[in-house]
Amino acid sequence: MHTRRVAVITGAAQGIGRRTAEVFAAGGYALALVDLQPVPSLGSDAIEVTGDVSSEADVERIAATVLGHFGHADVLVNNAGISFIRPAEEIAAGEWRRVLEVNLTGPFLLCRAFGRDMLAQGSGAIVNVASVAGLSGIADRAAYNASKHGLIGLTRTLAAEWGGRGVRCNAVCPGWVKTEMDLADQAGGSYSDADIENRVPMARFARPDDIAQAIAFLADPALSGFVNGVELRVDGGWLADGSWDSLRVRHRNKP
Ligand SMILES: NC(=O)c1ccc[n+]([C@@H]2O[C@H](COP(=O)([O-])OP(=O)(O)OC[C@H]3O[C@@H](n4cnc5c(N)ncnc54)[C@H](O)[C@@H]3O)[C@@H](O)[C@H]2O)c1
Repeated sequence: MHTRRVAVITGAAQGIGRRTAEVFAAGGYALALVDLQPVPSLGSDAIEVTGDVSSEADVERIAATVLGHFGHADVLVNNAGISFIRPAEEIAAGEWRRVLEVNLTGPFLLCRAFGRDMLAQGSGAIVNVASVAGLSGIADRAAYNASKHGLIGLTRTLAAEWGGRGVRCNAVCPGWVKTEMDLADQAGGSYSDADIENRVPMARFARPDDIAQAIAFLADPALSGFVNGVELRVDGGWLADGSWDSLRVRHRNKP
């Protein structure tokens, strides 16, 4: 039995990944923080590993570095991802492939690399950051939506394949979160804050902390030890709500 729990978090430089790293650090985890960009220091027991999750060579190097440093890993959070907004008929094959490489092949490579170690130790928790776009279609996001649907398929399959050997695999499905990703997408002009706030029963964006707390729950066997293969929606009720906008907003304004 290892004394200190070790978590690997990808896309940890900013946004959801950054907040997840802070929550895990406060929870006493030793951390391996992976990103393409330099990761700001957390001042805890953390190492930074720079690399591209879509590169097989980088992922093998990341795993060797993390396992060489800590000796094992208990948790893998596949959070790194890219957005891509374009009408389906205009998406070039190379653009489609890049989104699938980062958002789906990357998590697979990391699950494979760290899963081997988790299977050998007979325990582990993988949390994949999917999206409401992994459970429903949203126009102008064919590649992104397909990658997140695929990530949920990978999650379910690893839950089936590895659950019996002590390795749980789950996904979180955030609604719209206020991060740099959202700012960049909005700068492209495809939607506004009001579009999202009107669509969500709880009338707001998710905060990075909302997502980080759900990830921490799924990572912790004391809290979620029999939860395996789920897609935990953290969307303020977005996917549950089939109301039209004026009906939703009318209920919100009731005294
Ligand atoms: N922001 C949202 O509204 C939202 C909603 C649902 C799901 N998500 C998902 O949550 C995750 C995090 O999103 P965010 O909003 O924090 O995004 P973000 O763009 O703010 O941060 C993503 C981080 O991932 C890193 N990254 C990107 N490509 C990488 C690669 N190939 N290798 C290593 N690191 C890479 C970036 O450098 C960045 O630090 C993504 O998977 C995203 O699809 C976001």
